[in-house]
Amino acid sequence: LDIATTNTPFIMVVGGLGYIGSHTVLELLKANYNVLVIDDLSNSYESVLHRVKAIATEHFASQDRSMPALHFRQLDYRSACMRSVLASYSSYSIGAKSDVPTPMEDVVRALPRGFPFSALQRTDSGIDMDDDASPEPVLRRESRITGVIHFAAYKSVEESIRQPLRYYSNNVCGMVDFLSLLEEFGIKNFVFSSSATVYGEGANCGVPLREELCVHHPETFVDSDGTERQVIPGVLGLTSPYGRSKFMCESILADIARSDPTWSITALRYFNPVGCHESGILGEDPRQKPSNLIPVVATVLTGTKPVLDIFGTDWNTPDGTAVRDFIHVVDLARGHIAALAASAAGRVKAPFRTYNLGTGRGHTVREVVTSLQATAGRTIPVREVGRRAGDVGFCVAEVGRAETELSWRAEKTLADCSVDVWNFTKGRCQPQSHDDMVC
Ligand code: WQD
Repeated sequence: LDIATTNTPFIMVVGGLGYIGSHTVLELLKANYNVLVIDDLSNSYESVLHRVKAIATEHFASQDRSMPALHFRQLDYRSACMRSVLASYSSYSIGAKSDVPTPMEDVVRALPRGFPFSALQRTDSGIDMDDDASPEPVLRRESRITGVIHFAAYKSVEESIRQPLRYYSNNVCGMVDFLSLLEEFGIKNFVFSSSATVYGEGANCGVPLREELCVHHPETFVDSDGTERQVIPGVLGLTSPYGRSKFMCESILADIARSDPTWSITALRYFNPVGCHESGILGEDPRQKPSNLIPVVATVLTGTKPVLDIFGTDWNTPDGTAVRDFIHVVDLARGHIAALAASAAGRVKAPFRTYNLGTGRGHTVREVVTSLQATAGRTIPVREVGRRAGDVGFCVAEVGRAETELSWRAEKTLADCSVDVWNFTKGRCQPQSHDDMVC
């Protein structure tokens, strides 16, 4: 670990080489933040870091500006090594005697391995390390990590149903230990990657979802078959261990903030992140088999998958296919920068606050397919099949709170998403037998 002896502030991005994480790291650099990326590469590649660096380098070169620092540690965020990472991104000083003197041997033990002792800044010239008569020194540690964005969670709804313990261990237990460590190092500006999944059955209510709607208050909604149903608030109403893990994490964060209002925590509820950076070198490139609509369509476009299954054509929607709020990943990334800035500027109205990050506009699955077909200039074979377990017919964000408090709104359209997805995908096409395949 490089032992920094400066006071340079960093934003730590946990899971920073994933799909949303990598786009957020890029936007952080462009907003002049120094970034420390933590990623265990379980669902990403180190090459993503080089792609982010290449895009950022070109961006800053074009503006004749020097690029902020970009550091990377390949690490499971639950690892015991996280402590030494945080210790090495702290600044230390020896202060005058206080009511809790720190014997020098404790000072040395508290410093990260290899810390250059000479770098200890003395906050009180009255301290002479070698003079026994000097007042007992006290070690002060201040983290240079001024904010944390936490993406590191497993996110497959279907997989979470098959492997609930793995999801609760990583998504919930891991986060509890991580938050305890952050608290120990005084790092209390925390941005949490949450999800519209926390709205559970309420997402089917056919109206844009307000932050309070459905999660904590009983609400009724008319289901697609016309039946009025009450939303089961909270964990019971959620459709998967993945969704419950996100709800549990939000509840844990709310409890922390209630116990210690010096925390500043924002939980950003993503709707359907899609698209990728315009360069075409940064996109959704998971190690695991994709299940989300756009990455699956991309596999059909590349010829990896022969046909797209459309899950359900009998929803109470304009064309019978489900409606979702598809938000461009770059807009989503910028929502994180807006949350950090709003938190630092004191515009986040409570120590814990949730925000919907969506466009506020819904599109049907069939509209997405049509848009991608038009952009790629080729037909996407589809097969209409039954509904997928856990799906809801309508899920669109109410985005007023994010617009007002974070001064943020999504700007890119579905067409922008299609152009960027195709730009990223077309370089991955398989040779095709039929003549109309042009990649
Ligand atoms: C969108 C629509 C499918 C694939 C999930 C998670 C959610 C969040 C975003 C993390 C649905 C239909 C899909 C396919 C299809 N992830 N579809 N054929 O289910 O809205 O949300 O991803 O936070 O937590 O639940 O997204 O892209 O899987 O599906 O017809 O091959 O596309 O039925 O109506 P979803 P999705």
